[in-house]
Amino acid sequence: YHVDWDASAAEKDGFDYFMLKEIVEQPKAVADTLLGRVSVDGQLTLDEMRLTPAELRSVEKIVIIACGTSYHAGLIAKYAIEHWCRIPCEVEVASEFRYRDPILDQQTLVIAISQSGESMDTLMAVRYAREQRARVLAICNVNGSTIPRESDGVLYTHAGPEVGVAATKTFLTQLAACYLIGLYLAQVRGMKFGDEINAVIAQLATMPEQIEKVLDTVEPVRELARSLADADTVLFLGRHVGYPVAMEGALKLKELAYMHAEAFAAGELKHGPIALIEDGLPVVVVVPSPKGRSVLHDKIVSNIQEVRARGARTIVIAEEGDESVRPYSDVLIEIPAVPTLLQPIVSTIPMQVFACELALAKGNDVDQPRNLAKSVTVE
Ligand code: G6P
Repeated sequence: YHVDWDASAAEKDGFDYFMLKEIVEQPKAVADTLLGRVSVDGQLTLDEMRLTPAELRSVEKIVIIACGTSYHAGLIAKYAIEHWCRIPCEVEVASEFRYRDPILDQQTLVIAISQSGESMDTLMAVRYAREQRARVLAICNVNGSTIPRESDGVLYTHAGPEVGVAATKTFLTQLAACYLIGLYLAQVRGMKFGDEINAVIAQLATMPEQIEKVLDTVEPVRELARSLADADTVLFLGRHVGYPVAMEGALKLKELAYMHAEAFAAGELKHGPIALIEDGLPVVVVVPSPKGRSVLHDKIVSNIQEVRARGARTIVIAEEGDESVRPYSDVLIEIPAVPTLLQPIVSTIPMQVFACELALAKGNDVDQPRNLAKSVTVE
């Protein structure tokens, strides 16, 4: 008998932790998830979903159910789906969904997002939805797992196996899958702004390169994280799709660094959370693109000024070339310019690296954080 430590190092491709390897694998994970589904001429092929265009045209409401990080993917999907498809969309944590007597019928499309396909809360919600005769579409990373088997249709993410307990590459691929579904629904339903849809499809196809760019420039995030290893709490602010990204950033920090972290919709600051701001408190802010929805951008720049004036240490994630935030940023993390709705694919990465590095600085095992399981098969 001998301990084959070489094999274990090889499994991690030379990385000390699976999580580090999985963060780096994200360009490929997203590319593999888009492969064969998006063509250069803007054609989407999602026949494998097993839902006919006629069924998709009859959808009157979408309900997304999920847990943990998958829930954050669902929150982001809501912004995209409502904007592109004009179909009302609700998002709910699976453990709450089924106990509140939700209103579902045959015209409701339930999208169950689960990396493992085994989360008990999500599975129970799927069963409940099908009993109510809703159509259920699963987004899942594990072939043949329970949730896709019990759903009407499935769109698999192709992230490959994820070993680290905290989801990273599977989250980005869930986003890619949600965007594909939203864009496909918009096409099938003949939405008016076809030009915007086609432009986004083309942009979506370039996401793997954009992710690569972010990974090439995250070194300052590592240094920053190490400098914050003694912080008691970190706050995260965002607006629009940046809000769920802020939530994901806070969740990663709790999971990996065992730190208190909380996310707020930046507009809610004035209704309470601003009272928490004190000298030196780290506040991470996700800034939307200054192009397009500039009102959104200008509002968050004011929010950054507000917290900084009260002593916060501002860590700002903003589009490259966005000079308007520089004067108010103690640390500025630049991400590539992409359409607002797709920004979570790039803005999440600094959050992952930040939490991972901070946890490592504290000496935590980032692959096996305390008290957590990769897939939670109890209610
Ligand atoms: C656990 C994991 C999380 C994951 C959540 C949902 O809590 O630790 O990383 O986001 O389950 O898992 P699922 O497999 O349903 O996406």
